[in-house]
Parts: sequence; structure tokens; C-alpha cells
Amino acid sequence: MRFPRNGWYTAIWSKELADQPIARTILGEKLVLFRGANGRAGALADRCCHRAAPLSLGQVAGDRLRCGYHGLEFDTDGRCVAIPGQADVPAGAQVRAYPAVERWNAVWVWMGDPALADPGKIVELPWLDSKEWTATPSYLHLQVNAQLLIDNLLDYTHVSYLHAATIAGDPREATTPTKTERINDGVRVGRWMIDFKPPPLFAKAGGFTGNVDRWQHATWKSPSTVYMDVGAAKTGTGAPEGDRSQGISIWSTHLVTPETDASCHYHFGFARNFALDDAEMSQLLFNGARNTFLEDKAMLEAQQHNLEAGDLDGLMHIGADAAQLQARRMLADLVRAEAD
Ligand code: FES
Ligand SMILES: [Fe+2]
Repeated sequence: MRFPRNGWYTAIWSKELADQPIARTILGEKLVLFRGANGRAGALADRCCHRAAPLSLGQVAGDRLRCGYHGLEFDTDGRCVAIPGQADVPAGAQVRAYPAVERWNAVWVWMGDPALADPGKIVELPWLDSKEWTATPSYLHLQVNAQLLIDNLLDYTHVSYLHAATIAGDPREATTPTKTERINDGVRVGRWMIDFKPPPLFAKAGGFTGNVDRWQHATWKSPSTVYMDVGAAKTGTGAPEGDRSQGISIWSTHLVTPETDASCHYHFGFARNFALDDAEMSQLLFNGARNTFLEDKAMLEAQQHNLEAGDLDGLMHIGADAAQLQARRMLADLVRAEAD
């Protein structure tokens, strides 16, 4: 596994965590997620300390999680706090608790040393939790090493080919170069396309009848979050200089969580700053994102089939791979530092 354990990983969208415990494997470890009556989210090892039953087969009972086998109860810190028919709880009766924090309408878990879990290090994604933006979160499970998905998200060259039926617009997109830059904790890659034909989804969402100035700027932040500032404005109205008043802006957000070496959890969504309360627009963008990323899922799963755990050994690189190669290098450095 080429991901650091000391990092915040998205476990689930907040709205998906209701009154039932949910099993989630992250970085090869089996977790159970639950939300107590007090609203607090908990993440525990999915293995009861009594007879190893999966706690995800149990129930939420008040603020606690009750094992479905013999009824032992655990709090969000993993401590066993009740044993049916027995007054005393033996010292040390507990399961591992993972630091869990709810932010940006998602639950984030820290998979490494709890002493290092600083919630301030969760990537800033304010558009997922703001009155000025409307987000349409979604989820897919991929039989793909998470690294291949991150590669894909830092690569705009595939859009013209893989997404010809969804988000590709102008044929000139295929040859428009991108610029890659290294930033603190991540990599940024992007480009402008001036006076281009908009893709049908953008034309519909923005009501464009003619050409647009279109932008795509992706940022990867360690370990596995990618967010993209994407949008389009009527051509010649000053978007490249900062005036987006004649256009639409979307934060295309991708929260990738490694499950095993050959699978990952993919939380994604578009957040927009226009037509905020328009249910039809939400449906259009929800479907648009999902249909697009289902195209990635199909290709990535086929690619994974040809690769051992996402390794690129023996493959050749092209110029457009710069951003993904930098991200891979930074992750490898983090994993190495952690091993030392
Ligand atoms: S296995 Fe959980 S209470 Fe017995
Ligand atoms: Fe894609």
C-alpha cells in the first residue's frame, strides 16, 4: 500500500451515516462507523474484543454501539462501558478507536498515530459546507488502486477520449497543454481554453449559446484529495482576468480513500455557485458527474486488471503525466518517511 497512515481519509459523506452502523475497510483495516444519539461520529475497529464479532452487525444504542452478538456496549472512544448481566467491566476492555472528525459534510478518519491527528490538517473544502454553494455529493466503489484514480484526476488529456460522450466539448481540448506546479502538500495542474465550444453539460448548466472561455485547475492535496476549480464564461467577457460574472463556477471535488491495494472508495461531487435552490440543476449536475465518473470507473477497473496494485513498472510516460508523477513521488516520500 503506497499511502501514509498518518493522514485524514474520508470515511463517508455525513448524510450517509444515520442510525445504522456501517462497515468500511480503509487502508486494509476494517472499521465500523456509527453516529450516537448525541450526533457524534465514531470510528472503531470492526471487531468486538469479546469474541471478535463484527461490530458493524450490531446496533446504535443511545450514544453507544452495541455488539450484535452478546450485547457489550462501546463508546466512541472504543471503551467497553457495559456488559449485560455483569456489574464490572474489566480494565482494558476496549477496541481500537480511530480519531474521527466531521468536516465539510464528510466524516474523516485518521489511520495513523492518534497523537499526531491534528484536525487542522484536513484539506480545506469550504464549498461543501457553505450557503454560497450547492453540492451534489455522490459515491462509487472502485475495484482500483486509489493511486490510479488520483493519476486520472490529475490528467486532463483523457477527457477528450474517455469522456467524449459527457464532458468533452471542443476537439482542440485534446491538444491544449496543461501547466503543473508543486505546492505545499500537493500538486496543481491546470489550463485555460479560450473561445472554445462548451461541452453539452456546461452549455446547459450555464445557458451558453456560443463559445466560452473555459478553465480547469486541479489541486491534489496529500494524501488523497483532489479538488478542481472548473467553469466556463461567455468568451471575451474577462474570465481569465478574474471576471466570472458571465459564467458558471464549479468545485469538482474528489475524496479518494484506499480500501485495499486493489480497491478504493470514491466520494465525489460538484459544488456550484449558481441556481442554488434549483432542484433540476442539482439533478443535471448530479447525473452529469456520475455518468462521467462511471466512464472513469469502467476504464480504471480494466486498467487495474492489467496492472499489479497500480505499479507503473515497465510503462512509458508522456509529457502530460507530469502532475501525477509528482504526486506519486510526494506520496512515496511520505510513506518512506513514515517507515523510517
Ligand atoms: S462478540 Fe461482541 S459481545 Fe460477544
Ligand atoms: Fe475522467
